[in-house]
Amino acid sequence: MGEYPAGRGSADTGSPDKGRAPNAAKPTIMVVYGTRPEAVKLAPLIRALEKSDLFEPLVVVTAQHRTMLDQVNRVFDIKPEFDLDIHCPGQTLAEITTRALTGVNALLADVRPDAVVVQGDTTSVFAAALAAFYEKIPSAHLEAGLRTCDPFSPYPEEINRQLATRLAALHLAPTATSRDNLLAERVDPAAVVVTGNTVIDALLWTVDQPPGVGEPRYGDPALDRLDRDDGPVLLVTAHRRESWGEPLRAVGRALNRIAGAHAGIKIAFPIHRNPVVRDAIIPSIAGLPNVIVTEPLPYGAFARLMNRATLILTDSGGVQEEGPSLGKPVLVMRDTTERPEAVAAGTVQLVGTDEDQIVECVDRLLTDLGAYAAMANAVNPYGDGHAAQRAVAALAHFFSLGPPAEEFSIGPLAGEFCGGRR
Ligand code: UD1
Ligand code: UDP
Repeated sequence: MGEYPAGRGSADTGSPDKGRAPNAAKPTIMVVYGTRPEAVKLAPLIRALEKSDLFEPLVVVTAQHRTMLDQVNRVFDIKPEFDLDIHCPGQTLAEITTRALTGVNALLADVRPDAVVVQGDTTSVFAAALAAFYEKIPSAHLEAGLRTCDPFSPYPEEINRQLATRLAALHLAPTATSRDNLLAERVDPAAVVVTGNTVIDALLWTVDQPPGVGEPRYGDPALDRLDRDDGPVLLVTAHRRESWGEPLRAVGRALNRIAGAHAGIKIAFPIHRNPVVRDAIIPSIAGLPNVIVTEPLPYGAFARLMNRATLILTDSGGVQEEGPSLGKPVLVMRDTTERPEAVAAGTVQLVGTDEDQIVECVDRLLTDLGAYAAMANAVNPYGDGHAAQRAVAALAHFFSLGPPAEEFSIGPLAGEFCGGRR
């Protein structure tokens, strides 16, 4: 900490501020994000910054995602001050990086906030952290220290978050395990604070709301009928880039077999908007009477559907964290995970993208009550609902406005988890 130059002059030119007037009393924190999961996990922090009196938050979206991002902002009633609107269909990694980097850099040069907050491991995160570094503005990385140590799994997220670590001045690690990953990379321990994951703050807030907050019911008649049906529900999400092509086609075939083998089951699949994902999976499941494919759901509705589900099959990072908190067995369609805590707790199992393996594991949980009960434990290794407050306290300490933040305490996992392989 403390290696960033003081003051708000332009990094490249040394010129005084062109935009926002500096507010000596309240540091301006620019929160930058681009996709659905970042929006979910930053919403509690934005709210906590607004409440804190210590900071002036400024919300910027790159809009790497468009509809899926706007959906979350609506649920949490967040209206960004700046929208870079970079989304375009079929965007490449290089296009996202260059558009986000150029857009955020220009905004930083103009506004000159006191710090930038980024969250997670998307390309918007890396680009925003890099832009902040170019402007010599410190960045705080929320959800720092998750690692598989395999550059291609998840791709490109593992490298995005490693680069964010290199660029950040303050590292807000969700768990003791993620803190230890950072310390193993020789990150200054004084710059690391274990906060818990803000996804649990978002989830607890959301499940506490009356049904229909933000949106009426699920917004889909077939899903609405699930509330009056007590049969098993398999909730599915999938989107990972490293699974594009044959792995996602295998997921589609597995779902087709599961739907055929379990007539009483309903498979609910709010499918990612990416046409690459849809084209790979939908042909195998279209028209099946017990498969409900919908548009992505608003966060409140999705949280209720997780609660309604018997089990969850996913490759999502966020859903891997939320499912265990709701006591739902989660089968993860990946070969590695950077979230080993719920695997260690027994609620999450890595099943990869092999068709037979997915079918077998779902089958077992639907037919073997003992196996199901062993996984259906409500555990909260990722947070206690107060991560955003700790993140604000950590920022306050960073700016010498408060004492060291109290940390989220669940002990580190025993053993070597970097890689988290099946
Ligand atoms: C991105 C992140 C990934 C994160 C995921 C969450 C990168 C490289 N990937 O992956 O880390 O886990 O978001 O969902 O940062 N699309 C729409 N509307 C939307 C969103 C996406 O049409 O609201 C379509 C577009 O055709 C777009 C494609 O989906 O080209 C892929 O979106 P993109 O952000 O590039 O990657 P994701 O797979 O969503
Ligand atoms: N989510 C949602 N609606 C959906 C599917 C997921 O609101 O239809 C939420 C989910 O609860 C989690 C987040 O989106 O908080 C995860 O996003 P995604 O799986 O796209 O990204 P990842 O977490 O894998 O980066």
